[in-house]
Amino acid sequence: MRVLILALLALLPALPAAAQSPAADPRPGFHFAPARNWMNDPNGLVYYDGEYHLFYQYNPHGDRWGHMSWGHAVSRDLVTWQHLPIAIPETEVMAFSGSAVIDWKNTAGFNRDGKPAMVAVYTGFDPKTKNQSQYLAYSNDRGRSFTRFGKVLDIGSTEFRDPKVFWHAGTRRWVMVAVKAAEKKAAIYSSPDLKHWTHESDFGRTPSAQSINWECPDLFELPVQGGKPGETRWVLMVSQGDKGPDGGSGGQYFVGAFDGKTFTLEPGWDDAPHWQDLGADFYAAQSWSEMPDGRRIWIGWATDLRYAHAIPTYPARGLMTVPRTLALRREGSDWRLAQAPVRELEAHRGTPTQLRDVRLSETPTPLKLGDSLDMLVTFDPLKASQVALTLTDAQGYALLIGYTPATREVFIDRTRAGPHFHDAFPDRNIATLPPGDGPITLRLLVDRSIVELYAADGTRVITDRFFRGGGALTWSANAMDGEAVIRTLEAWPIE
Ligand code: FRU
Repeated sequence: MRVLILALLALLPALPAAAQSPAADPRPGFHFAPARNWMNDPNGLVYYDGEYHLFYQYNPHGDRWGHMSWGHAVSRDLVTWQHLPIAIPETEVMAFSGSAVIDWKNTAGFNRDGKPAMVAVYTGFDPKTKNQSQYLAYSNDRGRSFTRFGKVLDIGSTEFRDPKVFWHAGTRRWVMVAVKAAEKKAAIYSSPDLKHWTHESDFGRTPSAQSINWECPDLFELPVQGGKPGETRWVLMVSQGDKGPDGGSGGQYFVGAFDGKTFTLEPGWDDAPHWQDLGADFYAAQSWSEMPDGRRIWIGWATDLRYAHAIPTYPARGLMTVPRTLALRREGSDWRLAQAPVRELEAHRGTPTQLRDVRLSETPTPLKLGDSLDMLVTFDPLKASQVALTLTDAQGYALLIGYTPATREVFIDRTRAGPHFHDAFPDRNIATLPPGDGPITLRLLVDRSIVELYAADGTRVITDRFFRGGGALTWSANAMDGEAVIRTLEAWPIE
């Protein structure tokens, strides 16, 4: 169904030339985008031999969804990326989303000269039959070229995709989690050799499955912060095509146990959706496998499926978030995923602008800050009903990032933002902070057409894109119904 929708979207007329002006929408400074054309999901995230690989869903032939292939980039620090040629091209099947592993034990027999193969496991989509099956391709040259092995798992379905594979130490088996998309199920398989797969179980959850489908699952173990020594839980991630936190696409997480065969929810799990991100623009996130230092890091495609095809940027349409380190902790009787931009970003910080005790009133106070920066800001709302930073472009389009103390809501408000390119775009995305009062601190990554807002130690994240009618962006801050104060603001340009 999703594929059908995307295929139909690909047929819509392209945007008028005015919206495609590169000057009107400068490239991001530190978020990954392809050099040109359409990009969707991150794929095949794997670390090997000093390099982080980022493969991604890519259309080599245009800036609409189609001809799905795996684009490729590598990085040594998860911040600076080098573009590489297409890794897995479209053939008689399109190369849909999937993952990559390093076959240290040569279980598949693809290793060469005593060096482990990088094995990509992806969905082959046959445009004629609509069949979706899982395929392998492998590389013996650090991901620079791939040899197609072919189909390894076909259940005769048109809705079976997005395999995420990892080595499960306990059972000494490979585990695959994929989606039976339309059934809104995560299907778990195991294999000794990546080639022969056995179905182990399906995970579905009725109250949480109110969406059109599930896509792009992930499954991994995280330490429990503040828990007993060595305490861990497994986290199952799924993206859903609609009915997310802002009504469009989004992602949920589930916390539980995993024995190599079955994912079991934490006893007493609260069925209210646990959103990965409360903004409009976070989808199809995937985590890196084979991390050298035990961190669990993931990256998401920064879009809402409702308007992904219409995003007014040119020549590239598609952007990733900054890679984020994940943690898990308890909050009361519930569980919270916590996210933080990778620490490597801090090495790219330039000389900061530092502000202290800036008193704010209803009249906006201009702030001299750039449009590609990493910011830490502490607001004391005092008695004000709202305090906000505003980013305004030369045409008066305005994006608000703020806090409403009465409801303890941080928000990104796009109701006056960007040229109106889609009805689903003007919205207000909210995260409710845990109980408390007084000053609040936000970490903001602002990068020309994206804001990532991290609050409450990363347990509340809002990711939203914004666009501009034209001209440079300027910053201001103000307070409503009384004075407020910016206690401290530190903004580092990212270099
Ligand atoms: C998610 C998705 C995946 C699929 C891919 C095709 O955005 O629909 O389920 O594998 O994109 O490009």
